[in-house]
Amino acid sequence: MNDVLDFINVNRDRYVDELKEYLAIPSISALPQHSPDVRRAADWTAQALRNAGMQSVKVIETPGHPAVFGEWLGAPGKPTILFYGHYDVQPVDPVNLWTSPPFEATVRDGEIYARGAADDKGQVFMHIKAIEAFMKKTGGLPVNMKVLIEGEEEVGSEHLDDFIRAHKAELAADVVVISDSPMFDRGIPSICYGLRGLIYFQLDVRGTKTDLHSGSFGGAVANPAFVLAQMLAQMKDRGGRIKIPGFYDAVRPLSDAERAEWKKLPFNETRYRKELGAPRLFGESGYTTLERVWARPTFEVNGLQSGFTGDGAKTVLPAVSMAKVSMRLVPDQDPDTIADLFERYVKKVCPATVELSVTRMHGGKPWMTEFDNKYVRAAGRAIEAGFGRAPVFNREGGSIPVVSTFQEELGVPSVLFGVGLPDENAHAPDEKLDLGNFHNGILASAHLYQEIAIVD
Ligand code: BES
Ligand code: ZN
Repeated sequence: MNDVLDFINVNRDRYVDELKEYLAIPSISALPQHSPDVRRAADWTAQALRNAGMQSVKVIETPGHPAVFGEWLGAPGKPTILFYGHYDVQPVDPVNLWTSPPFEATVRDGEIYARGAADDKGQVFMHIKAIEAFMKKTGGLPVNMKVLIEGEEEVGSEHLDDFIRAHKAELAADVVVISDSPMFDRGIPSICYGLRGLIYFQLDVRGTKTDLHSGSFGGAVANPAFVLAQMLAQMKDRGGRIKIPGFYDAVRPLSDAERAEWKKLPFNETRYRKELGAPRLFGESGYTTLERVWARPTFEVNGLQSGFTGDGAKTVLPAVSMAKVSMRLVPDQDPDTIADLFERYVKKVCPATVELSVTRMHGGKPWMTEFDNKYVRAAGRAIEAGFGRAPVFNREGGSIPVVSTFQEELGVPSVLFGVGLPDENAHAPDEKLDLGNFHNGILASAHLYQEIAIVD
C-alpha cells in the first residue's frame, strides 16, 4: 500500500497535466452540435481506463450518447466495486463570465478552472488514477472493479436505466461507489446518504399568430409574457410553499433525530448568504436552510423568455412566451405522479385567452439510504486516511438519477464520496476543483479499494 501511496504522491503533476487534456474536450451532452465531442470524451475515457490497466474496456452505444464500461476481475473471493461517474458536462453559457476559457483548463491558486473540473471529470479521473497506481505498483487491484462512466448524466441519464436493466449480471457488484457531489465544506469531507429527485418541463404559451404593435392591439388580446408570469406566480405562496394540489402528499417528514444531527453540523448561514451574494435567504417557512435544500421539495423557474429584450425600447406584444421549470423532489415523491399533478394544475391555471403546450423533459427519482453498513464504514476510514479527518454524513439537494436504479435493479448499496466543494461553481461560470482535494481524493480512493477489500 505504501508503494501505491508514494506513486500517487510522486505523480501529482502528471495527473494535473492529463486532467487538463480530459477537460479540454467540450463534452456538452445537452447541445446536439457537441455530439462528436461527447463521443471523443467517451473514447478518451475508455483509453484512460485501458492505460490504467482495466480490461474489456468498451464504448457502449445507446440511443443517445455512449457510455464507457471496463472491468478488472482478478481478485476472486474479494468484493466487487461498481464505480459510476459521468464524463458529460453542462453548457458553458454565459461564456463571457468565465475568467479563462471553459475548455482551456487553467490553474489559479491551487484550483483548476474548467467546465467539468468538479462535475464530474475531475472526480472520475481521480478514481482512474487510483486504479492506475495499484496496477502499476502491485500488478492488480485489492478488489474486483467494474467501471461505468456515462455521457448523459447532465441530461437525466435517459438511456442508462434500460442499459442497467438489460445488463444486470454484467454489472453485478457488492457496492456502488460514486464521486459526483461536493463535500460538506472545505476541510470537512462527507458521505452523502440522500439526493433529491427532479422533474423538468418546458412551458410554451402562444397568444397570437405574430408579434403585434402594442398600441394598435394592446388591450384587445392577452399578453403571453404576462399570462405566463401570472401562471408561474400561482405555483408558490409567499411563504415558499408549493400550491400544486397533492404535491406534498408523499413527502416523508424529517425526523427529529435527523434534524438534531444536522443542527450539529458546522454550517455558517451568514457566510453562506454572503458567498452567494444574496441580500437575504429565502425558502419554505418552518425549515432551516439545510433542511430546505436537503429534505424539502422545490419549484424553480430555470429560464424565461419572451418579447423584446434588446437595448432600447420597442413597443410590442409578444406572440409567445416560454419558461423552463423544474421541481426537486424528496423521498417518497414519485416523479411521474408529481409530473401528472403539475400538468393538471398548470393547465387549470392557464386562461383560455392563450394556447399552452407542456413538454415533459428529463427527470429522476429521489434517493435516500441507511448509512450504517460496512461499506460506508470502510469509506469513512478511507476518507480519514486521505483527508486527515473523518467524514460527516449529509444529504444533498442535487440529483443523480441512476442511484435509485442501482438500488432497485441491482439491489446494491451506494457510497457517495464526493470531493467537490459547495463553492466550486458546478453548472455555473468559473467551475473549478481544488487540487488539494483532487490529490487527497486519489489517495482516499486508493485507501477505499484497500478498505473494501478487507470489509466484514
Ligand atoms: N453532480 C451533480 C449532482 C449533485 C449536485 C449531487 C449537487 C449533489 C449535489 C450532477 O452532475 C447533476 O448536476 N445532476 C443533475 C441531474 C439532472 C439533470 C437530472 C442535477 O442535479 O441537476
Ligand atoms: Zn452536474
